[in-house]
Amino acid sequence: MTLTRNDFPGDFLFGASTSSYQIEGHAQGGAGQTHWDTFARTPGNVVRGEHGGRACDHYNRLDADLDLLKDLGVDVYRFSTSWARVMPEGRGNVNEAGLDFYDRLVDGLLERGIKPAATLYHWELPSALADLGGWANRDIASWFADFTEVIMGRIGDRVWSAAPINEPWCVSWMGHFLGHHAPGLRDIRATARAMHHVLLAHGRATQVMRGRGMDNLGAICNFEYAVPVDNSPEAQRAARTYDGYYNRFFLSGLFNGAYPEDVLEGIGPHLPAGWQDDFDTITAPVDWCGINYYTRKIIAPANGPWPALEEVDGPLPKTQMGWEIYPDGLHAFLKRTHDAYTRGLPLYVTENGMAAPDTVSNGAVNDTARVDYLDAHLARVKQAIDEDIPVKGYFVWSLMDNYEWALGYDKRFGLVHVDFNTLERTPKASYHALATAIAR
Ligand code: FCB
Repeated sequence: MTLTRNDFPGDFLFGASTSSYQIEGHAQGGAGQTHWDTFARTPGNVVRGEHGGRACDHYNRLDADLDLLKDLGVDVYRFSTSWARVMPEGRGNVNEAGLDFYDRLVDGLLERGIKPAATLYHWELPSALADLGGWANRDIASWFADFTEVIMGRIGDRVWSAAPINEPWCVSWMGHFLGHHAPGLRDIRATARAMHHVLLAHGRATQVMRGRGMDNLGAICNFEYAVPVDNSPEAQRAARTYDGYYNRFFLSGLFNGAYPEDVLEGIGPHLPAGWQDDFDTITAPVDWCGINYYTRKIIAPANGPWPALEEVDGPLPKTQMGWEIYPDGLHAFLKRTHDAYTRGLPLYVTENGMAAPDTVSNGAVNDTARVDYLDAHLARVKQAIDEDIPVKGYFVWSLMDNYEWALGYDKRFGLVHVDFNTLERTPKASYHALATAIAR
């Protein structure tokens, strides 16, 4: 890497991110069933029908994986807590083994001098709550607040930071409009409700944690830079619409207490009654905002109902996901988030990284493209800092290869290679490069 820790302010934090369902092995330790387990077992939803039942077996390899973090030299580790591992039915009964696991995780990080950054929900909704309508049901905000009490009652005294929900757009739009993620719906009414309820749940959980005396609470959103396919007014409109429901809707709700007019045009008729009265909760003050960024999208107008647009193939070099590599977009979102929404709050890049078809040869993985990707995006972070945008840290997605949702196990995002037959871990060249770059 060309950039090193010395190119960043002294208090800048380097970290790595993972999530519970993608690494733990959800069939173990008394966790309840989730909507991802059943979504994956329905033909056609996930490549090869793969699921998170074993994943990286992180549940049984916790200490060795925490040692990988320590040797990498990160300051902070972003993990998530599985609702169904802690409360198998989503409500009521608590699985003590689940709480014990997150307790050991947090203590294990602290023992190694690594700050624990918790995300409460990274997508594995307990099936019993999915049966009740999941994110389309307003009651989810209360169920989630109760889960927050339980998990933070156990680890809230020791985590360094906490954010309720990973990527409201993915939870609502990917799962309820595109149907690419659990629960696999394609319905604008369910989508609109999920978009609102996910923010309401965020606000309720934030209030619960604040009430427990916790601080350093955040919100984590994902972004894609929308580029019109050409100069026509129709293409400009399409890209703006995409930008609206993807990028502006959630930030606007969280930080400005309103939804953008151009998004209301489409989802307004489908929002639950009384949504306008929920912004006091949704805007419960947070201490930072997390930005997850990977790519841009070229957007063209299309026939059909709102949003009447489609993605078209772009010309830039792509990752294994087929995602164009566009580091300028990261800078653009850091600047816009600061200028229009967070206005001085600390920002963190809570996810950034790339998938590649990495293989081990002679005990090594030569992922130089990933090193270049990280370097280029870190350069845009540095640019933002030089412009006085308060970016305080950068987390690589991901510590290790894992379950990439509907795409199964062969999209490899890790700094550490995982052999999904033997579960052997092999640090890649990018792991060693990052370790060298951030060594103190
Ligand atoms: C993000 C998710 C993460 C992973 C990366 C590639 O949207 O938060 O779990 O799937 O994309």
